Amino acid sequence: MKLCIIGTGHVGLVTGACFAEIGNQVICVDNDEEKIKMIKRGRMPIYEPELEELVKRNAGEGRLFFSTSIAEGTRKSRVIFIAVGTPPKENGEADLSSVEKVCREIVRNMKDYRLIVEKSTVPVQTGQWIKHIFRLSNNHVDFDIASNPEFLREGSAVRDFLNPDRIVIGVERERAAEILRQLYQPIINREFNSDLRIPASSSDPVPLLVTDIQSSEIIKHASNSFLATKISFINAVADLCERTGADVEKVAEGMGHDPRIGSSFLKAGVGFGGFCFPKDLQAFIRIAEKLNYDFTLLKEAQRINKERPRQLVRKLEEALWILKDKTIGVLGLSFKPYTDDMRFAPSIEVIKLLQKEGAKVIKAYDPVATPNAKLFLNNIEYVSSPYEAASGSDALVIITEWEEFRNLDLEKIKGLLETPVIVDGRNIYDPREMQKLGFIYKSIGRGSS
Ligand code: UDX
Repeated sequence: MKLCIIGTGHVGLVTGACFAEIGNQVICVDNDEEKIKMIKRGRMPIYEPELEELVKRNAGEGRLFFSTSIAEGTRKSRVIFIAVGTPPKENGEADLSSVEKVCREIVRNMKDYRLIVEKSTVPVQTGQWIKHIFRLSNNHVDFDIASNPEFLREGSAVRDFLNPDRIVIGVERERAAEILRQLYQPIINREFNSDLRIPASSSDPVPLLVTDIQSSEIIKHASNSFLATKISFINAVADLCERTGADVEKVAEGMGHDPRIGSSFLKAGVGFGGFCFPKDLQAFIRIAEKLNYDFTLLKEAQRINKERPRQLVRKLEEALWILKDKTIGVLGLSFKPYTDDMRFAPSIEVIKLLQKEGAKVIKAYDPVATPNAKLFLNNIEYVSSPYEAASGSDALVIITEWEEFRNLDLEKIKGLLETPVIVDGRNIYDPREMQKLGFIYKSIGRGSS
């Protein structure tokens, strides 16, 4: 099938490369000329495992093209995915101005039938607005609108796209559903030819859910808001565990065995970040407000999350008393492991709070996020290993659970630290072991540790 993907951000670029991988002809369009040049040279604008190889292979084999022209993409493709950014406005609402501009440009260039698919995370009723924009134009070419939300996680986006839990399609007409069904058929039946296909443990097809457009739009917001709420829930339980001497890791395990609850997204810590959860939660609260529903449940999930960085800093104060003039080593800056994404990363809040309290030096180490961190943080000494971060520091704070932090030589770390204090925002070590090693070790929701 001939496809155009507008927007080469995380969602757009992964979508384009993966659709090419399963045999489609794909043009990825972006108005940022530099970015397009960079991708054409084989350099990715984001860090995402497996993406670079995928883009290079599919471009090399003539299935994946890049352009700055929506006109060209519209002319050459039957299905057009809109995957441009929808950043939050000051009031928390999603800014849809790029979506609108792109729609005007598509409709100006349409000569015959096109299926327009919203892939960006957009508020409910965006599909109706897109339709309105198409109808407003005096180009009366036939078209369909569909919503096809993306559930990919940063760090495993390519595999998530090709091996999804489910595919959701929101349509008004069967014709649009049929085109998308055909497009996704190889993924649904797990029968495309790629080493990125995870052999299904059963041969069950991937569930495909076809709904109306509004339901599909809400599924995306509701899914992310639910997962964010689940994290805030376990973080609130962690606070209770601390006050009672219980261990949140055990509590989460005990809860997770109930299949109705499930064990994932019950990891207590310094809170969720990234460009999806905080933004989507806020946007869903705003959508509800506009529809005269006060979604206090989500507001509370948001409040709990905003408190997490402050709480981590409080733990440091419990160990060191005064933070003024202290040197603090920070391990992990990205909002989660396997990404260099710093957007809404808890590390930003934690570090700003430390600086506000007068910490003299922040020595930070992250395996990949340092270049991006420089755009968000000032007055940081970036170091090139966890040991350098520990060297001469009054305490070490763990904010992102990168695998390499689990295997550190802790005896060596202890020798390098000025005082043996570790505050662990992701519970990566065993409190008893840490005590045995002689650390003052504080983690999240594990009794008095
Ligand atoms: C998320 C959704 O998972 C994905 O389906 C959606 O389309 C985009 O948003 P992503 O932002 O890449 O993906 O990250 P995810 O792995 O979901 O983690 C989000 C945040 O929650 C991270 O900051 C992570 O550290 C935190 N988290 C996750 C917890 O604190 N505890 C958990 O148990 C799980």
